[in-house]
Amino acid sequence: MSEIYQVAIDGPSGAGKSTIAKAVARELGIDYIDTGAMYRAIGYKVKLQGVDPSDMAAVQDMLADTQIDLRQGEVFLDGENVSSQIRTPEMSMMASVCSQIPAVREKLVQLQREMGTRKSVIMDGRDIGTNVLKDAIFKIYLTASAEERARRRFLELQEKGEDQSFEDVLADIKQRDHNDMTRELNPLRKAEDAIELDSTGLDIDQVVQKVLEIVRG
Ligand code: DC
Repeated sequence: MSEIYQVAIDGPSGAGKSTIAKAVARELGIDYIDTGAMYRAIGYKVKLQGVDPSDMAAVQDMLADTQIDLRQGEVFLDGENVSSQIRTPEMSMMASVCSQIPAVREKLVQLQREMGTRKSVIMDGRDIGTNVLKDAIFKIYLTASAEERARRRFLELQEKGEDQSFEDVLADIKQRDHNDMTRELNPLRKAEDAIELDSTGLDIDQVVQKVLEIVRG
C-alpha cells in the first residue's frame, strides 16, 4: 500500500490493544500511536501538581501549559520521558478519571487527529473508530472476557513486582469498563463499520495475524 491509511483499534482495558498494535505497526512499517498513554500523561500531571480534576478552571490552566509528544514508543510530558511512571494501577485510574473531562478530551483528540492524518498510522484507544479517525479504512474492535483481561494484567503486574491481588485487578478492570462505556463524551463502543475480534484464548501472534489479514485483505 503506498497511500496514507489509518488502522483504528478500540476495545476495553487489557484486551491487548497496545501489544497487538505495536506488533502490527512493526510488520506494516507504519507509526503506532498509543492514545491511552496520552490520557495517562495528563493523569500523571494532574496528580503531580495536585490539580483537582473537578476544578475546570484549574484543569484548563494546566492544559494550556502542557505538551505531550510520542517519540519512538516513548511518552514525553513537557519534555520529560514519563513512559514508566504512567504504567501503574494508580495512573490507570487517574487516566480514567481525566478522560471524562471535556477539556482534556478536546485537547487530546485534536492532537491525535493531527498525528493520525500526516502519515499512515495504527492508533489504539477507546474512541478512535467512532470519533478520532472516523474515516479510518480499517477499524478493529478488540475484546476479551473481563476475567481473561484481569489474568493478563495480573501477570504483568506480578512481573513488575507490583503487589495487587487478582480480585483487585479484576475489580479495577470492571470499574474502568464501566467508566469507559458510560461516560458522556465519546464512550467506548464498537463503531458500526468495525470488525470485532475476540482475543479470549488466542495468543498474541494469532491476534496479530488476524489483524494483518484484515489490513492486507
Ligand atoms: O488504554 P489505557 O489503559 O492506557 O487508557 C487509559 C485510560 O484512558 C482508560 O481509562 C481510557 C482512557 N482512554 C480514553 O478515554 N480514550 C482513548 N482514546 C484512550 C484511552
